[in-house]
Amino acid sequence: MDIKILHIDSNNPILWDQLQNAGFINHSDFTSSKEEIEAKIQDYQGIVIRSRFKIDKTFLEKATNLQFIARVGAGLESIDCEYASSKNITLIAAPEGNRNAVAEHSLGMILSLFNKLNQAHTEIQSGHWNRESNRGHELDGKTVGIIGYGNMGKAFAKKLRGFDVEVLCYDIKENVADANAKQVSLEELKQKTDVLSLHLPWTPETDKMVNTAFIEGFEKPFWIINTSRGNNVVTADLVTAMQSGKVLGAGLDVLEYEKLSFETLFKDKYTPEAFKYLLKAKNVILSPHIAGWTFESHERLAQVIVDKIKAKYFGNSNPTATEERVTGIGGFFFKSKNPKELLSWYATHLGLKTDDFGSTFLWKDKNDNQCSTQWSPFVEETNYFAPSEKQFMQNFRVVNLDDLLNKLSEEGVTIVGDVQTYEYGKFGWILDLEGNKIELWEPKE
Ligand SMILES: NC(=O)c1ccc[n+]([C@@H]2O[C@H](COP(=O)([O-])OP(=O)(O)OC[C@H]3O[C@@H](n4cnc5c(N)ncnc54)[C@H](O)[C@@H]3O)[C@@H](O)[C@H]2O)c1
Repeated sequence: MDIKILHIDSNNPILWDQLQNAGFINHSDFTSSKEEIEAKIQDYQGIVIRSRFKIDKTFLEKATNLQFIARVGAGLESIDCEYASSKNITLIAAPEGNRNAVAEHSLGMILSLFNKLNQAHTEIQSGHWNRESNRGHELDGKTVGIIGYGNMGKAFAKKLRGFDVEVLCYDIKENVADANAKQVSLEELKQKTDVLSLHLPWTPETDKMVNTAFIEGFEKPFWIINTSRGNNVVTADLVTAMQSGKVLGAGLDVLEYEKLSFETLFKDKYTPEAFKYLLKAKNVILSPHIAGWTFESHERLAQVIVDKIKAKYFGNSNPTATEERVTGIGGFFFKSKNPKELLSWYATHLGLKTDDFGSTFLWKDKNDNQCSTQWSPFVEETNYFAPSEKQFMQNFRVVNLDDLLNKLSEEGVTIVGDVQTYEYGKFGWILDLEGNKIELWEPKE
């Protein structure tokens, strides 16, 4: 295999090293212009980019041997994806690499705004010890509305699990909800939301989506967090809503002005009025497009890209992935005309040690951990197996229920209901391909 990869931006060294160790031939060129790279791109099967220039049709026409484009980042907006796909070029991105960072940043912005941390800190720095004017709000009991329930939106909802908040999501795709958020219409989201967090791509539909009409559609005054794209919000309209009190505060990691040069933007005559307002407002937190920019994501983004490139050429190099999800049968439940009689039959003829609920088999796993598997007949009228119409329900022991449900939801598997925690551990439910309900159980020690 002679796969030559051109790296046009610098990245975490694990990207280069691991690709090299896997037998790929790495070349770097961090300085040539787009035209100079176009002149030699026919020599490469792969290109790894961050954001140095757009991979447009002109570029792709010259890339006659290109098999993949890997972007070390969440999205592929800088690539003419449609044209690349028509040329059978695999597109690789790494949203798994920075979604946790974005989620933590979004949460950080909310908590900071709610507790007026920036404002209080700045006041103390200038010698003011103001307590009453810095009285905070609590997230507890609020409704968080997420628009765009993909990688980032889902990761953010997962972070909210420990808070007693209702999490709603709105997405143009159907059935994207998971155990961490309830999917609702945009109308319902606008009716109930106290804190809005945007996790949308930038498309013709989402461009300038949050404008005056959109904001006015919210029933209550609300806080807004934007870590998605600056152009999704009309900043002047946001400021008007802040002045009227409809928007209570804003955490903005992305700004519509990002396309302008920030060096000139800070010079007064170029500074838009709305931006001047944001710079001074106490209920605003701005950050320079760094939500996904952490030490951890720097490494994770590179690792995800390596794994995906390797998977393209060598298949999934992690054959134990499925084993790590499920560790055994946790239970088998089935409907019975007369559970009591049946239990007695099994006790008499097969020697099962039964109680009112069935029989519990005790065993040890390969690491010598004490484990149990429950076998239980249920009355025929039970609705515990719903929506499955089958007469039985399996229970699998899983390693990490939350992680698994997130992965399954990304894979399009139907999740039934919310995760529940009982004495024995955490429980979640999914449907298999034939609509059989499966219980997933993360046992307690
Ligand atoms: N600030 C940062 O550092 C940072 C880091 C990573 C990602 N991002 C940005 O976050 C955003 C989300 O990224 P992602 O990886 O989660 O994307 P994604 O594609 O996984 O998810 C986006 C979701 O939005 C939905 N959507 C699209 N158009 C919609 C519409 N008009 N109304 C409602 N829903 C709509 C999609 O169906 C999808 O489920 C992107 O804009 C990305 O660039 C920012």
